[in-house]
Amino acid sequence: MRKKLVAGNWKMHGSLAENAALLGAIKPALAGIEAAVCVPFPYLAQAQAALAGSSIAWGAQNLSEQVKGAFTGEVSAAMLVDFGCQYVIVGHSERRSLYGETDELVAKKYMAAQAAGLIPILCVGESLAEREAGVTETVVARQLDAVISAAGVASLAKAVVAYEPVWAIGTGKTATPEQAQAVHAFIRSKIAALDAGVATGLVIQYGGSVKAANAGELFSQPDIDGGLIGGASLVADEFIAICRAAAK
Ligand code: 13P
Repeated sequence: MRKKLVAGNWKMHGSLAENAALLGAIKPALAGIEAAVCVPFPYLAQAQAALAGSSIAWGAQNLSEQVKGAFTGEVSAAMLVDFGCQYVIVGHSERRSLYGETDELVAKKYMAAQAAGLIPILCVGESLAEREAGVTETVVARQLDAVISAAGVASLAKAVVAYEPVWAIGTGKTATPEQAQAVHAFIRSKIAALDAGVATGLVIQYGGSVKAANAGELFSQPDIDGGLIGGASLVADEFIAICRAAAK
């Protein structure tokens, strides 16, 4: 059976003191449960120290597509590896919509991550206007195709995909389990058409207003293999309950 994986995306939240409390609470509560937190760059060292030896992995929310050089303000994949990161989010909708990341740039970041040994969590998902226009599958397929044509379908054996409908992110409006399952099944079948083995093993997370109260129902869908959690990953009891729901 495929594993389920829950990852927290802290976005631009936290402080040394807040993180110490949050990490200190989730570490013992999730002992033996595989999970991850993607923290802001300045707190990677703190996450590494606090989570070393635990079942919780850590990672970043973005990286440069470049290896090294005169790229002021950028952070490379190798630097993330230096801090013990296992994961990095690529192509989050906030990066795509607020910082102009194109499908092509996302594919380059995905490849830079894998080249350094990181597992990219590749985010895909449609906006509300796109859903209402009936082009959800077209948009998700285009986002996936950019990565598959650049990196090959086999690369997905070392990646996680996160389906995050933009209209459900931070809005309190969760996709229904049926809506999410339909897109997850579409993603898996699209990849299965290219490589059935990769599709069967691929962890496809759902993200968008996941809470302890709705996690169980979402994660019980056959193609939903855990979640990428924003707001609720900042609340220890919520995140712990969501991770436990995935581990059931
Ligand atoms: P929320 O869980 O706050 O809706 O955020 C989802 C998300 O964007 C995770 O990457």
